[in-house]
Amino acid sequence: MKKMVVLVSGASSGIGKSVAEYLHKNGFTVYGASRHIEPSDTLPLTVKMDVTSDESVESAVAFILQKEGRIDAVVNAAGFGIAGAVEDTSVSEAKMQCETNFFGTLRIVKAVLPHMREQRSGYIINFSSIGGLVGLPFQAFYSASKFAIEGFSEALRFEVKPFNIKVSVIEPGDFKTNFTQNRKKTVLAQEDEAYKERFLRCLSVMEHDEQNGADPIVIAKTVYRILNTKNPRFRYTVGPFAERLFIMLKKFLPASLSELMFEKYYKL
Ligand SMILES: NC(=O)c1ccc[n+]([C@@H]2O[C@H](COP(=O)([O-])OP(=O)(O)OC[C@H]3O[C@@H](n4cnc5c(N)ncnc54)[C@H](OP(=O)(O)O)[C@@H]3O)[C@@H](O)[C@H]2O)c1
Repeated sequence: MKKMVVLVSGASSGIGKSVAEYLHKNGFTVYGASRHIEPSDTLPLTVKMDVTSDESVESAVAFILQKEGRIDAVVNAAGFGIAGAVEDTSVSEAKMQCETNFFGTLRIVKAVLPHMREQRSGYIINFSSIGGLVGLPFQAFYSASKFAIEGFSEALRFEVKPFNIKVSVIEPGDFKTNFTQNRKKTVLAQEDEAYKERFLRCLSVMEHDEQNGADPIVIAKTVYRILNTKNPRFRYTVGPFAERLFIMLKKFLPASLSELMFEKYYKL
């Protein structure tokens, strides 16, 4: 049987890197993509790709198709977070967030779909977040970008099912990666006295949880399992037990109670 060819975006760091290296180690032909990436022993095939540029995404996908003649799966892990109160976030900062997390995913999906449709098979794995299920305070636009990925992926799953293309989302809780260091704060976030104190308190709980989060290898193994499953589920919520439990409870608890728990936890 031919090895599956997989494109992993965001493969220079954190979750994408762990996924790409794990799949490579387990016999897949993996192309790791990001803006700053070089081949290594653990990930020998790489391609430069900026997901905010149509041209960059299209040429990276064309390069893989020219080399391998096929792409069997894409794992869309490129992304970053932006923090600041809604009032302290400019429209251009909000757009920048969605340009990478949501439109970046869309660009890759659009570039591979004609090919997957023609070959009548494919896996598309998009990265949402627990922040795609719960609106995270002071990360409203990060959450918005992930809620967008949820809705988009759910709709896409129905559309491409007749072509044997399987769409899933992964919703990670907190994982220890470079996400925390790479998070951008909005220009006004730390100056606005109206929000400053609660913003900093809430963000420091989030940063603490991320830096004490799970090992991304857990996600790499989840992706491996999806790619070895004929009919994968739509949703895979992965991460620390308490976070998964909160998501489950949120479905059953009265909204006022889950809100209260959230406010207490994030010291709002
Ligand atoms: N860590 C967590 O706790 C957590 C929780 C929930 C969801 N997630 C999601 O998981 C995904 C991966 O995050 P991570 O934790 O692995 O963060 P990370 O360690 O900061 O890695 C982010 C990756 O995205 C790439 N990237 C960023 N902007 C890009 C662009 N314009 N074009 C191409 N690549 C770009 C970066 O590569 P270059 O800089 O080389 O381009 C890097 O490889 C993200 O979608 C994030 O939202 C993470």
